[in-house]
Amino acid sequence: MIDISLGLVRVTEAAAIAASAWIGRGDKESADKAATQAMRERLNQMDFSGKVVIGEGKKDNSFGLYGGEVLGKFAKTKNVPVYELAVDPIDGTRPTVTSGPEAMSVIAVGEQGSLFSTAEFYMNKLAYGPEIARKTELHLNEPLKQTIERVSKATGKAVSKIMVCILDRPRHEKAVAELRSIGVRIKLIQDCDISGAIACCLPQSGIDLLYGIGGAPEGVITACAMKCLRGALQVQVMTKECKIADPKIYSINDLVRGHCIFSATGITNGSLLRGVRFTSTGPVTYSVFMRSESGTIRWITAYHGNLMPPSESA
Ligand code: FBP
Repeated sequence: MIDISLGLVRVTEAAAIAASAWIGRGDKESADKAATQAMRERLNQMDFSGKVVIGEGKKDNSFGLYGGEVLGKFAKTKNVPVYELAVDPIDGTRPTVTSGPEAMSVIAVGEQGSLFSTAEFYMNKLAYGPEIARKTELHLNEPLKQTIERVSKATGKAVSKIMVCILDRPRHEKAVAELRSIGVRIKLIQDCDISGAIACCLPQSGIDLLYGIGGAPEGVITACAMKCLRGALQVQVMTKECKIADPKIYSINDLVRGHCIFSATGITNGSLLRGVRFTSTGPVTYSVFMRSESGTIRWITAYHGNLMPPSESA
Protein backbone atom coordinates (compact mmCIF):
# COMPACT_ATOMS: atom_id res chain seq x y z
CA MET A 1 0.00 0.00 0.00
CA ILE A 2 1.16 3.56 -0.58
CA ASP A 3 2.57 5.29 2.44
CA ILE A 4 -0.18 7.53 3.71
CA SER A 5 0.59 6.80 7.35
CA LEU A 6 1.20 10.22 8.81
CA GLY A 7 -1.57 11.68 6.66
CA LEU A 8 -4.06 9.28 8.22
CA VAL A 9 -2.98 10.11 11.74
CA ARG A 10 -3.53 13.76 10.91
CA VAL A 11 -7.05 12.87 9.76
CA THR A 12 -8.08 11.33 13.09
CA GLU A 13 -6.21 14.02 15.04
CA ALA A 14 -8.16 16.75 13.22
CA ALA A 15 -11.50 15.00 13.78
CA ALA A 16 -10.74 14.38 17.46
CA ILE A 17 -9.73 18.00 18.05
CA ALA A 18 -12.89 19.23 16.33
CA ALA A 19 -15.06 16.81 18.32
CA SER A 20 -13.39 17.66 21.61
CA ALA A 21 -14.63 21.23 21.37
CA TRP A 22 -18.07 19.70 22.05
CA ILE A 23 -17.16 17.61 25.09
CA GLY A 24 -19.91 17.72 27.69
CA ARG A 25 -22.00 20.21 25.73
CA GLY A 26 -24.89 17.86 25.10
CA ASP A 27 -25.08 18.57 21.39
CA LYS A 28 -24.49 15.34 19.45
CA GLU A 29 -25.34 16.89 16.12
CA SER A 30 -22.78 19.68 16.34
CA ALA A 31 -20.08 17.33 17.61
CA ASP A 32 -20.72 14.90 14.78
CA LYS A 33 -20.83 17.67 12.19
CA ALA A 34 -17.56 19.23 13.40
CA ALA A 35 -15.70 15.92 13.45
CA THR A 36 -17.06 14.83 10.08
CA GLN A 37 -16.15 18.10 8.40
CA ALA A 38 -12.64 18.06 9.89
CA MET A 39 -12.14 14.48 8.74
CA ARG A 40 -13.38 15.25 5.24
CA GLU A 41 -11.15 18.34 4.93
CA ARG A 42 -8.05 16.43 6.01
CA LEU A 43 -8.79 13.50 3.72
CA ASN A 44 -9.13 15.92 0.83
CA GLN A 45 -5.61 17.22 1.53
CA MET A 46 -4.04 13.78 1.13
CA ASP A 47 -2.16 12.66 -1.99
CA PHE A 48 -4.45 9.76 -2.72
CA SER A 49 -7.90 8.76 -3.84
CA GLY A 50 -10.09 7.11 -1.23
CA LYS A 51 -13.69 5.94 -1.45
CA VAL A 52 -15.84 5.77 1.66
CA VAL A 53 -17.16 2.22 1.97
CA ILE A 54 -18.03 2.33 5.64
CA GLY A 55 -19.44 5.63 6.83
CA GLU A 56 -21.57 6.65 9.76
CA GLY A 57 -24.34 8.25 7.74
CA LYS A 58 -26.97 5.56 7.76
CA LYS A 59 -26.73 4.24 11.31
CA ASP A 60 -26.67 7.63 12.98
CA ASN A 61 -28.57 9.59 10.39
CA SER A 62 -25.60 11.95 10.57
CA PHE A 63 -23.63 14.16 8.22
CA GLY A 64 -21.78 11.49 6.22
CA LEU A 65 -19.04 10.83 5.21
CA TYR A 66 -21.50 8.74 3.19
CA GLY A 67 -20.76 5.51 1.41
CA GLY A 68 -19.57 6.13 -2.15
CA GLU A 69 -18.03 9.55 -1.51
CA VAL A 70 -14.55 9.77 -3.09
CA LEU A 71 -11.99 11.96 -1.33
CA GLY A 72 -8.36 13.00 -1.63
CA LYS A 73 -6.32 15.17 -3.99
CA PHE A 74 -6.53 12.46 -6.67
CA ALA A 75 -10.27 11.89 -6.26
CA LYS A 76 -10.92 12.97 -9.84
CA THR A 77 -7.72 11.55 -11.34
CA LYS A 78 -8.17 8.55 -13.63
CA ASN A 79 -6.03 5.40 -13.41
CA VAL A 80 -4.89 5.82 -9.81
CA PRO A 81 -5.62 3.17 -7.19
CA VAL A 82 -8.75 3.97 -5.23
CA TYR A 83 -8.34 2.98 -1.59
CA GLU A 84 -11.32 2.00 0.48
CA LEU A 85 -12.09 3.95 3.63
CA ALA A 86 -13.94 2.92 6.76
CA VAL A 87 -14.51 6.04 8.82
CA ASP A 88 -16.01 6.86 12.17
CA PRO A 89 -15.31 10.53 12.93
CA ILE A 90 -16.64 9.91 16.44
CA ASP A 91 -17.02 6.43 17.87
CA GLY A 92 -18.84 7.46 20.98
CA THR A 93 -20.90 10.54 20.19
CA ARG A 94 -22.79 10.11 23.45
CA PRO A 95 -19.68 9.93 25.68
CA THR A 96 -18.28 12.91 23.78
CA VAL A 97 -21.22 15.18 24.57
CA THR A 98 -21.72 13.80 28.10
CA SER A 99 -17.99 13.75 29.00
CA GLY A 100 -18.04 9.96 29.22
CA PRO A 101 -15.09 7.68 28.56
CA GLU A 102 -13.62 5.99 25.49
CA ALA A 103 -14.73 8.27 22.64
CA MET A 104 -12.29 8.30 19.76
CA SER A 105 -12.00 9.24 16.13
CA VAL A 106 -11.19 6.32 13.85
CA ILE A 107 -10.30 5.50 10.27
CA ALA A 108 -9.20 2.32 8.51
CA VAL A 109 -7.96 2.04 4.94
CA GLY A 110 -7.92 -1.07 2.76
CA GLU A 111 -7.06 -1.83 -0.81
CA GLN A 112 -9.61 -1.59 -3.61
CA GLY A 113 -12.38 -4.16 -3.19
CA SER A 114 -11.20 -5.18 0.26
CA LEU A 115 -13.79 -3.93 2.74
CA PHE A 116 -17.03 -5.75 3.50
CA SER A 117 -20.10 -3.58 3.53
CA THR A 118 -23.66 -4.17 4.56
CA ALA A 119 -26.78 -2.05 4.67
CA GLU A 120 -27.72 -3.71 7.97
CA PHE A 121 -27.47 -1.93 11.29
CA TYR A 122 -25.80 -4.29 13.74
CA MET A 123 -23.36 -7.16 14.04
CA ASN A 124 -23.07 -9.73 16.79
CA LYS A 125 -19.36 -9.81 17.65
CA LEU A 126 -16.85 -12.02 19.37
CA ALA A 127 -13.34 -10.54 19.59
CA TYR A 128 -10.26 -11.84 21.35
CA GLY A 129 -6.56 -11.19 21.38
CA PRO A 130 -3.54 -12.89 19.79
CA GLU A 131 -2.62 -14.92 22.87
CA ILE A 132 -5.94 -16.78 22.76
CA ALA A 133 -6.00 -16.88 18.95
CA ARG A 134 -2.63 -18.64 18.84
CA LYS A 135 -3.89 -21.44 21.05
CA THR A 136 -7.53 -21.97 20.16
CA GLU A 137 -10.37 -20.93 17.88
CA LEU A 138 -13.55 -19.63 19.43
CA HIS A 139 -16.93 -19.79 17.72
CA LEU A 140 -19.59 -17.11 17.91
CA ASN A 141 -22.38 -19.69 17.83
CA GLU A 142 -20.92 -21.94 20.48
CA PRO A 143 -22.53 -21.78 23.96
CA LEU A 144 -20.86 -19.12 26.09
CA LYS A 145 -19.91 -21.71 28.71
CA GLN A 146 -17.83 -23.62 26.18
CA THR A 147 -16.24 -20.40 24.90
CA ILE A 148 -15.21 -19.40 28.41
CA GLU A 149 -13.78 -22.87 29.07
CA ARG A 150 -11.66 -22.54 25.92
CA VAL A 151 -10.47 -19.08 27.02
CA SER A 152 -9.63 -20.41 30.47
CA LYS A 153 -7.58 -23.24 28.96
CA ALA A 154 -5.80 -20.96 26.47
CA THR A 155 -4.88 -18.30 29.01
CA GLY A 156 -4.34 -20.56 32.00
CA LYS A 157 -6.68 -18.28 33.98
CA ALA A 158 -9.42 -19.51 36.27
CA VAL A 159 -12.89 -18.73 34.95
CA SER A 160 -13.38 -16.23 37.80
CA LYS A 161 -10.37 -14.24 36.53
CA ILE A 162 -11.62 -13.92 32.95
CA MET A 163 -13.04 -10.53 31.97
CA VAL A 164 -15.68 -10.17 29.25
CA CYS A 165 -16.49 -6.76 27.81
CA ILE A 166 -20.08 -6.21 26.63
CA LEU A 167 -22.18 -3.18 25.72
CA ASP A 168 -24.63 -2.32 28.50
CA ARG A 169 -27.86 -2.71 26.55
CA PRO A 170 -31.22 -4.38 27.32
CA ARG A 171 -30.61 -6.71 24.36
CA HIS A 172 -27.71 -8.23 26.32
CA GLU A 173 -29.61 -8.99 29.53
CA LYS A 174 -29.74 -12.72 28.79
CA ALA A 175 -26.06 -12.93 27.85
CA VAL A 176 -25.04 -10.96 30.94
CA ALA A 177 -27.11 -13.26 33.18
CA GLU A 178 -25.51 -16.29 31.54
CA LEU A 179 -21.99 -14.86 31.92
CA ARG A 180 -22.73 -14.14 35.59
CA SER A 181 -23.89 -17.69 36.13
CA ILE A 182 -20.69 -18.99 34.48
CA GLY A 183 -18.75 -16.86 36.96
CA VAL A 184 -16.63 -14.55 34.79
CA ARG A 185 -16.06 -10.89 35.50
CA ILE A 186 -17.92 -8.48 33.22
CA LYS A 187 -16.91 -5.04 32.00
CA LEU A 188 -20.15 -3.34 31.00
CA ILE A 189 -19.41 -0.50 28.60
CA GLN A 190 -21.84 2.27 27.73
CA ASP A 191 -20.47 2.74 24.19
CA CYS A 192 -17.42 2.30 21.96
CA ASP A 193 -17.05 -1.39 21.22
CA ILE A 194 -14.17 -0.74 18.78
CA SER A 195 -12.05 0.25 21.75
CA GLY A 196 -13.48 -2.70 23.72
CA ALA A 197 -12.34 -5.14 21.04
CA ILE A 198 -8.88 -3.59 20.71
CA ALA A 199 -8.49 -3.84 24.49
CA CYS A 200 -8.61 -7.66 24.15
CA CYS A 201 -5.29 -7.44 22.31
CA LEU A 202 -3.56 -5.36 24.99
CA PRO A 203 -2.53 -7.49 27.96
CA GLN A 204 -2.53 -4.50 30.31
CA SER A 205 -6.26 -3.92 29.68
CA GLY A 206 -7.20 -7.09 31.56
CA ILE A 207 -10.00 -7.77 29.05
CA ASP A 208 -10.07 -11.22 27.45
CA LEU A 209 -13.16 -11.12 25.25
CA LEU A 210 -15.56 -8.69 23.67
CA TYR A 211 -18.97 -10.17 23.10
CA GLY A 212 -22.35 -8.93 21.91
CA ILE A 213 -24.27 -6.84 19.42
CA GLY A 214 -22.88 -3.47 18.31
CA GLY A 215 -22.85 -1.30 15.20
CA ALA A 216 -22.15 -2.95 11.83
CA PRO A 217 -19.84 -0.17 10.56
CA GLU A 218 -17.88 -0.44 13.80
CA GLY A 219 -17.60 -4.19 13.15
CA VAL A 220 -15.70 -3.66 9.89
CA ILE A 221 -13.44 -1.02 11.45
CA THR A 222 -12.80 -3.40 14.35
CA ALA A 223 -11.80 -6.11 11.87
CA CYS A 224 -9.11 -3.79 10.45
CA ALA A 225 -7.73 -3.05 13.90
CA MET A 226 -7.78 -6.73 14.90
CA LYS A 227 -5.98 -7.68 11.69
CA CYS A 228 -3.16 -5.24 12.53
CA LEU A 229 -3.03 -6.54 16.11
CA ARG A 230 -3.13 -10.24 15.09
CA GLY A 231 -6.28 -10.69 17.15
CA ALA A 232 -9.43 -12.53 16.09
CA LEU A 233 -12.98 -11.42 15.39
CA GLN A 234 -16.12 -13.25 14.34
CA VAL A 235 -19.32 -11.45 13.46
CA GLN A 236 -22.83 -12.17 12.32
CA VAL A 237 -24.83 -9.48 10.53
CA MET A 238 -28.00 -8.47 12.40
CA THR A 239 -30.95 -6.21 11.64
CA LYS A 240 -31.82 -3.08 13.61
CA GLU A 241 -34.27 -5.27 15.55
CA CYS A 242 -31.37 -7.61 16.46
CA LYS A 243 -32.61 -10.45 14.28
CA ILE A 244 -30.08 -12.50 12.29
CA ALA A 245 -29.90 -10.94 8.80
CA ASP A 246 -27.39 -13.42 7.39
CA PRO A 247 -26.58 -16.80 8.94
CA LYS A 248 -22.94 -16.68 7.84
CA ILE A 249 -20.28 -16.11 10.47
CA TYR A 250 -17.72 -13.72 9.06
CA SER A 251 -14.13 -13.57 10.24
CA ILE A 252 -11.46 -10.91 9.81
CA ASN A 253 -10.43 -11.96 6.31
CA ASP A 254 -14.04 -11.81 5.11
CA LEU A 255 -14.41 -8.29 6.48
CA VAL A 256 -11.09 -6.94 5.24
CA ARG A 257 -9.21 -8.70 2.48
CA GLY A 258 -5.50 -7.99 2.02
CA HIS A 259 -3.61 -5.42 4.03
CA CYS A 260 -5.06 -2.48 5.89
CA ILE A 261 -3.98 0.42 8.04
CA PHE A 262 -5.74 1.90 11.04
CA SER A 263 -5.54 5.14 12.96
CA ALA A 264 -7.43 6.28 16.07
CA THR A 265 -7.14 9.44 18.17
CA GLY A 266 -8.69 9.78 21.62
CA ILE A 267 -11.44 12.37 22.11
CA THR A 268 -12.17 11.62 25.77
CA ASN A 269 -9.98 9.55 28.10
CA GLY A 270 -10.25 5.81 27.59
CA SER A 271 -8.55 2.51 28.28
CA LEU A 272 -6.75 2.77 24.96
CA LEU A 273 -6.05 6.47 24.48
CA ARG A 274 -6.07 9.72 26.40
CA GLY A 275 -8.45 12.40 25.21
CA VAL A 276 -7.55 15.73 23.60
CA ARG A 277 -5.93 18.26 25.94
CA PHE A 278 -6.09 21.97 25.23
CA THR A 279 -2.97 23.69 26.55
CA SER A 280 -1.78 27.28 26.36
CA THR A 281 0.50 26.21 23.50
CA GLY A 282 -2.13 24.34 21.51
CA PRO A 283 -3.98 21.01 21.58
CA VAL A 284 -2.24 17.75 22.48
CA THR A 285 -3.53 14.51 20.95
CA TYR A 286 -2.92 10.82 21.63
CA SER A 287 -3.21 8.40 18.74
CA VAL A 288 -2.49 4.84 17.79
CA PHE A 289 -1.50 3.97 14.25
CA MET A 290 -1.17 0.37 13.03
CA ARG A 291 -0.30 -1.47 9.82
CA SER A 292 -1.39 -5.04 9.19
CA GLU A 293 1.46 -5.77 6.79
CA SER A 294 4.22 -5.24 9.34
CA GLY A 295 2.19 -5.54 12.52
CA THR A 296 3.77 -2.28 13.71
CA ILE A 297 1.87 -0.33 16.34
CA ARG A 298 2.80 3.32 16.86
CA TRP A 299 1.58 5.37 19.80
CA ILE A 300 1.78 9.01 18.78
CA THR A 301 1.57 12.02 21.05
CA ALA A 302 1.25 15.18 18.98
CA TYR A 303 1.71 18.75 20.17
CA HIS A 304 -0.22 20.83 17.69
CA GLY A 305 0.66 24.31 16.65
CA ASN A 306 3.40 25.09 19.11
CA LEU A 307 6.33 24.04 21.22
CA MET A 308 6.16 21.00 23.46
CA PRO A 309 5.66 22.12 27.05
CA PRO A 310 8.98 21.83 28.96
CA SER A 311 7.51 19.32 31.46
CA GLU A 312 6.89 16.82 28.65
CA SER A 313 10.10 17.39 26.66
CA ALA A 314 12.44 15.14 28.69
P1 FBP B 1 -21.44 6.16 17.53
O1 FBP B 1 -21.12 7.13 18.58
O2 FBP B 1 -20.51 6.19 16.40
O3 FBP B 1 -22.84 6.24 17.14
O4 FBP B 1 -21.29 4.67 18.10
C1 FBP B 1 -21.20 4.37 19.44
C2 FBP B 1 -21.47 2.91 19.68
O5 FBP B 1 -21.42 2.66 21.07
C3 FBP B 1 -20.54 1.94 18.96
O6 FBP B 1 -19.25 1.83 19.52
C4 FBP B 1 -21.33 0.66 19.03
O7 FBP B 1 -20.90 -0.28 18.07
C5 FBP B 1 -22.73 1.15 18.77
O8 FBP B 1 -22.75 2.53 19.16
C6 FBP B 1 -23.80 0.41 19.50
O9 FBP B 1 -25.03 0.81 19.01
P2 FBP B 1 -26.31 1.12 19.93
O10 FBP B 1 -26.00 2.38 20.69
O11 FBP B 1 -27.42 1.28 18.97
O12 FBP B 1 -26.46 -0.02 20.85
